[in-house]
Order: sequence, then structure tokens, then C-alpha cells
Amino acid sequence: MEVTAAPAGPRAGARPRRDAPRPTPLREVSAERSARLPTGIVELDRVLGGGLVPGSLILLGGAPGIGKSTIAGMALANLAAAGGQTLYVSGEESAAQVRRRAERLGEAALDVPMLAEPSLEAVLSALESERPDACVIDSVQTLAVAEAAPGSVGAVREATSALLEAAKRLDVTLILIGHLTKEGSLAGPRALEHLVDCVLHFEGERERTFRTLRALKNRFGATSEIGVFEMRAGGLVEVTDPSARFVGEARPAAGSVILCAREGTRPPLVEVQALVAPT
Ligand SMILES: Nc1ncnc2c1ncn2[C@@H]1O[C@H](COP(=O)(O)OP(=O)(O)OP(=O)(O)O)[C@@H](O)[C@H]1O
Ligand SMILES: [Mg+2]
Repeated sequence: MEVTAAPAGPRAGARPRRDAPRPTPLREVSAERSARLPTGIVELDRVLGGGLVPGSLILLGGAPGIGKSTIAGMALANLAAAGGQTLYVSGEESAAQVRRRAERLGEAALDVPMLAEPSLEAVLSALESERPDACVIDSVQTLAVAEAAPGSVGAVREATSALLEAAKRLDVTLILIGHLTKEGSLAGPRALEHLVDCVLHFEGERERTFRTLRALKNRFGATSEIGVFEMRAGGLVEVTDPSARFVGEARPAAGSVILCAREGTRPPLVEVQALVAPT
């Protein structure tokens, strides 16, 4: 079969000429740095690398009941007490439930404005009109997004992208609370770690009151620092000297040993117990 070659045209792969964008030397990029907002919780500020960065997105994950809403509520209460504009959005608990927690946390927590509004659209317009310095979304899985099942990976991603855009444009710091199972496998939060600036993980044991906060990712600071808290009736109390607390109860007995662990810039002393039976 005879094939006629097509007449030679423009070079294959050549694109039509268009005004190409001109890259800017980094030295000329404007980078006004707004001051960080201290949350007033020293252990949290240390993990963040020195407070909240305005316009940033923080994902706060942890197992059910660990204290995510408590620490977020306490941070907003401190910001409000310092004269900052705050907003607490709850798609998970009723306004009355959030109020009951705030009563536990103290007077300042009751000054935080709240919105029991599980739709993404409503949250975006509230951010637009209220322009808070910091806003907590509790939780990102409960936001209703048009045309996607709440809590599905698609909905969580869409909500996060829209919130990211709003946070940068309005200079609002957003703390998104996300649920994780013990295995970290629940649909949602893991899928959006790359979208957010900072991923914090709150962990602890069900039987004990100690809680540890660590950063798994931080675009504005190190990820090696940990914050230690204790859950009490009045909320989370900072444990500023973990070594004293962890080894304070240790007794010189067979099976108990004290060792120095490496965690961030503070090497805590911990007690390790081995319970051994003759068999
Ligand atoms: N009066 C109290 N005294 C001591 N601890 C309390 C008291 N009330 C609540 N708690 C603790 O607070 C925890 C709940 O905290 P919080 O609601 O902040 O958790 P969460 O991580 O937001 O949970 P969820 O996954 O349900 O949203 C409880 O599991 C309990 O340990
Ligand atoms: Mg909660």
C-alpha cells in the first residue's frame, strides 16, 4: 500500500506562541510576615513552632474522646481573652454541648462565638463576614458539601480546598479537627495531609490522663517537639516538667527501670515496667 507523506508543517510539538508568564526573582517577592498568634497554651505553641501562623491551615487529628475539641476550645478562649476575633464551628455537637464543655473550661471559653452549622457554604460566608483571626472547624468530616456524601474522601477534600483558599485570602487561621481511628485509617484526614500547612496529632491512652501532642508535619517549624498535657475536670493542664510526673511514682522495685527518652529538645525521663511471671 502506498502512503503519501504529509507536507512538512510546523515542527512537531511546537506550541502556538503565547505571552509566557515572567517569573519573579525571590528577592523581589513581597513577603510581609504577620506576627504569630500565641494560643496562650505554651505546650501547644511550642509544637506549632511559636504560635499560630496567620492564614495557615492546621489539621488536628486524634482518636475519639482524646480531647481535640477541648484543646481547640481552650486555644480560642485564650485568643478571645487577648482581644482576638474567634469563631467555633461545630457540625458534630449541638451548641448546648459545646457550651457545657466551655463551662468546664472557664469564663473566657464562654466568650467564643459559635456556629452550629454543618454546611461548607454557610461556614465560608461566615468567615467572609466575621473575618475571625482564628476559627475552629469541629470536625472537617461533618461539613456538608453539595453533591458529595458528608465524611467521604471527596467531601473532605473539597471542603479543605475551599477552606484553604478562604484562609489564605482572608488571613484566617483555621484549625480543622479530624477523626482518626487507632490505625489512622478513616477516610478523610490522611488524604488531606498534603493540603494543609500543619498536621498535629493528639494521642494518649484511654486508661490514663496523660495526653501528648506532636506535629507530624509543619511548614513553619520543626516536627520534633512534643507537648504534654493531663486531662482534668477543668480541661487540659500543661505538664511543663514531664520527667518529674512520669518518674515521680516510680519505686525502686524489680521490673522497674528509668530511662531517658529522646523527644524534641527536652529529653524526658520515663519509667518502664516489666511484669514477669515465673513461667
Ligand atoms: N469532668 C471531666 N473531668 C475529667 N475529664 C473529663 C471531664 N469531662 C470530659 N472529660 C474528658 O474529656 C474527654 C472529651 O474531650 P473532647 O470532647 O475534647 O474530646 P474529642 O477528642 O473532641 O472527642 P470526640 O472525638 O468525641 O469529638 C473525655 O473523653 C474525658 O476524658
Ligand atoms: Mg470533639
